[in-house]
Amino acid sequence: MRYLVNGYFMTCGTSVANLSQGVKDMMEDNKYFDEIALLQVQLLNFFEVHQPASLSISPQELQQTTEEFLRIYPQRPIKINTGGTGLGANYWMFVVLRQIKPNLIIESGVWKGQSSWLLRQARPTAEIHAFDICLNNMLHKEPSIAYHECDWIAENIFNRQPNEGLVFFDDHSNQAKRVREAYDRGFKWLLFDDNVPTDQINRIGRPALPSISMLFDPKLKEGDLIRWELAGQEYCYSFSARDAHGAKELIDYHLVFPTYTCITLVKLY
Ligand SMILES: C[S@@+](CC[C@H](N)C(=O)[O-])C[C@H]1O[C@@H](n2cnc3c(N)ncnc32)[C@H](O)[C@@H]1O
Repeated sequence: MRYLVNGYFMTCGTSVANLSQGVKDMMEDNKYFDEIALLQVQLLNFFEVHQPASLSISPQELQQTTEEFLRIYPQRPIKINTGGTGLGANYWMFVVLRQIKPNLIIESGVWKGQSSWLLRQARPTAEIHAFDICLNNMLHKEPSIAYHECDWIAENIFNRQPNEGLVFFDDHSNQAKRVREAYDRGFKWLLFDDNVPTDQINRIGRPALPSISMLFDPKLKEGDLIRWELAGQEYCYSFSARDAHGAKELIDYHLVFPTYTCITLVKLY
């Protein structure tokens, strides 16, 4: 299969073929090669189209980061992370973190501990605080991460150097409220998992309401009622400006990566 990247075609197999034998040997099997090669091409195309301010990546840099991800990912502590981030989301997170290089990272939503591990692999020397209101599901603990069993707002963690901090929200909580909280604490870079668009909120068991995409949905108006069904159960949500916390005005830009869970990078003013 061929993909258009930066104006020239490359085959899906090109980046895979370029991987060193050492990297291939470390993989438990070849099942990720094609998927990662495709994601790598998607990511290059994505950056080419969006060209976000203060975030760019060359094909060579991406190749290097991808090789490193492929070396690290097979060592993940939780092989099947049901209910949490998987290959696609972890790859995009890894690349973004390697580009932004935050020295202070907050995670909200630990679950079994997989994404906390990934954050540590991406930023080996960063100060990392991982929050969850219930840490009973943890299967892996990183010795160098500070875990907190509470909402992140319960601790006074402020970011003094705006470009150096990043918060990863994967807690199914109101994403607009999270933007406001992060802004008030001096953070500029945010990553959200599960930023689903209005017409796809039935994809997530307990969606974040509103999501970042909903804030930018021109069709969504005050008082609109959204109804959806999941696993035989009916849900409804009424959109209100009160829930939006004025968050849209705090956002410089947001990039929704084409993953199933809509991993989204948000840059605040
Ligand atoms: C989807 S899971 C997180 C998955 C994890 N990030 C991963 O990829 O491996 C969501 C987690 O958010 C936690 N959660 C719910 N409300 C929260 C809150 N207010 N603050 C922090 N964590 C919360 C839940 O307990 C659950 O463990």
